Amino acid sequence: MKRAIYPGSFDPCTLGHLDIIKRAANMVDELVVGVLINKAKTPLFSPEYRVSMLKEVTKDIPNVKVESFEGLLADFARQKDANIIVRGLRIVTDFEFELQVAQTNRMLNSDLETIFLTTSLEYSYLSSTTVRETAAFGGDISKFVPPELVDTINEKVAAKFKEDKNE
Ligand code: PNS
Repeated sequence: MKRAIYPGSFDPCTLGHLDIIKRAANMVDELVVGVLINKAKTPLFSPEYRVSMLKEVTKDIPNVKVESFEGLLADFARQKDANIIVRGLRIVTDFEFELQVAQTNRMLNSDLETIFLTTSLEYSYLSSTTVRETAAFGGDISKFVPPELVDTINEKVAAKFKEDKNE
């Protein structure tokens, strides 16, 4: 079985992420979307919530699974018996960092191959950071994220904004 992992922070999941998920799922038998639990960062959404958002938007893609992971991606891949990592490339500057990470992952787990999918043109400007920022200032995020996530993201961002103001 050809199993791949598409890892990321997904804070939150964007249409660009979903585009990569759909295209990668077409290339393998099973795609595991790996949501990073990074204790060094404070994400807007908890890992559980990020997993549930991804499950919601991928529920109609039968060979996609969503799981969280902690620690090294190379270890998570071993644990999942996956030897392919999928990453999306938006702009050329993404490549420098991604190449370094791919080579590090290969040193840590020699079975691992990283494949890069170029982001579809209409999403090449998109990132989770710009989605959070747009939502924080009341902008329309409906062109950036799957429709079923628009309200939940806006609510969460508004609640966080209020919380920060009261601190
Ligand atoms: O969506 P992101 O934040 O660009 O995803 C980055 C991710 C999760 C792919 C990367 O940070 C990662 O794999 N982290 C786990 C730790 C690890 O294995 N790092 C690679 C060795 S440097």
